[in-house]
Amino acid sequence: MTNVPPRRSGPQPAMDPLAPENRADPYPFYHWLRENDPIRHAVDGSWILSRYADGAAVLRDARFSPNPAWLREGAVKGAENHPVRQVGTSLMMFLDPPDHTRLRSLVSKAFTPRMVETMRAQIQRLVDELLDAALPAGAMDGRVEMDGRVEIDGRVEMDIVADLAYPLPVAVICELLGVPPFDRELFRQLSSDASRLLDGGALDKASQERGMVAGMQLFQYFTDLVEQRRPHPGDDLPRHDLLSAMIAAEEAGDRLSHAELITTATLLFVAGHETTSNLIGNGVLALLRHPGELRRLQDDPGLIRSAVEELLRYDSPVQYVARITTEDVEVGGVPIPAGEQLICIVGGMNRDPAQFPDPDRLDVGRPERENRHLSFSAGPHFCLGASLARLEAQVALGTLLRRTRDLELLTPEPRVREHFVLRGVHELRVGFSPAA
Ligand code: HEM
Repeated sequence: MTNVPPRRSGPQPAMDPLAPENRADPYPFYHWLRENDPIRHAVDGSWILSRYADGAAVLRDARFSPNPAWLREGAVKGAENHPVRQVGTSLMMFLDPPDHTRLRSLVSKAFTPRMVETMRAQIQRLVDELLDAALPAGAMDGRVEMDGRVEIDGRVEMDIVADLAYPLPVAVICELLGVPPFDRELFRQLSSDASRLLDGGALDKASQERGMVAGMQLFQYFTDLVEQRRPHPGDDLPRHDLLSAMIAAEEAGDRLSHAELITTATLLFVAGHETTSNLIGNGVLALLRHPGELRRLQDDPGLIRSAVEELLRYDSPVQYVARITTEDVEVGGVPIPAGEQLICIVGGMNRDPAQFPDPDRLDVGRPERENRHLSFSAGPHFCLGASLARLEAQVALGTLLRRTRDLELLTPEPRVREHFVLRGVHELRVGFSPAA
């Protein structure tokens, strides 16, 4: 038996998550679902879960597989024998044990929290470079050059998405994998296009094709880079990048195949780019809409860790995580046959009042024990890059708040991206005075 919460009165919202009002603010829709139809059998046959307890249980249970329909059935028409589909079959994100366990343990050996922590200084340098580039000359001394004049304490504008949130994660993953700086620009677009493949069946044909081509280009790029990275006779320089560590793991035995090596490098871009950009973009937006919390964080920078966790919970960069039932199961008391698709609305589960006190309130000091959000999923597929994403957001937001004063939102209703799975905005223009 499950506790059925009291039904929310008021009109039923549009049941389409992509309806303009739901795209702008999906949380009333999620609340309605959780309170009225928490295990909804949708018209396309999938099951929509919106309660925290159901999602947390499903994501931790191996009877629910992440292997998507388009991989199993070649649902991307004409792609049955397409190389991207073969690449997809060695993507860790979509694998079940024992392949998943083997691949994940190998990659996580190279991707340790210690390795991530050694990137703190690099991330700080990248954030400072991006902010320096976005600010007019002299701005950090409190002087701003405008039309040849120097204004003391002038106001400055920047687009948080284009100038900071979007380029940072690409630069970080490029440095992590040892991709030369001049290739980064290419990666921004490719990883962005490829990440749309996460939308699976909800994707239009043109975006699907662009995603496939981008996936192929990334795959080819890493095939070439791996060849260059392989140690050659006389090559006595030790390499410390993640790709070289994975090559070493590949060469140490037969446990990491060549295809797995290449697809894992590609996955790190696709999984780590827009997600982290959206965390930074959504995070700045949420803080600007809650000036009291913004001031609190500015006055007490020690809150940055709990603030980033709260921003992850409050407006999750990943809204949906899908699973397929591998046998007949019961979820929250409802029988579900084998072979059905379940969509866990993690964005809505993060606002479940049965799990989070006062869930619609942004509280940058929310205690850790009250903030076990599902934004990085849970169980065996818990995000491998979570500590990297957290570190990037902590450094980016912490530095932005330290280097600016009187931050204000210049686009009160920023345009939300077209993605289904990922949630973020196209542009976020802000104005501020540089901090002296
Ligand atoms: C705020 C940023 C991020 C969010 C919200 C996020 C979210 C997620 C989620 C929800 C999953 C699990 C999907 C599932 O259960 O089916 C996942 C898996 C994964 N993420 Fe992230 N991610 C972020 C950043 C990153 C970064 C920076 C990297 C690496 C550079 C990364 C690499 C991965 C990988 C490799 C997996 C697959 C893990 C597995 O299947 O075992 N992610 N991420």
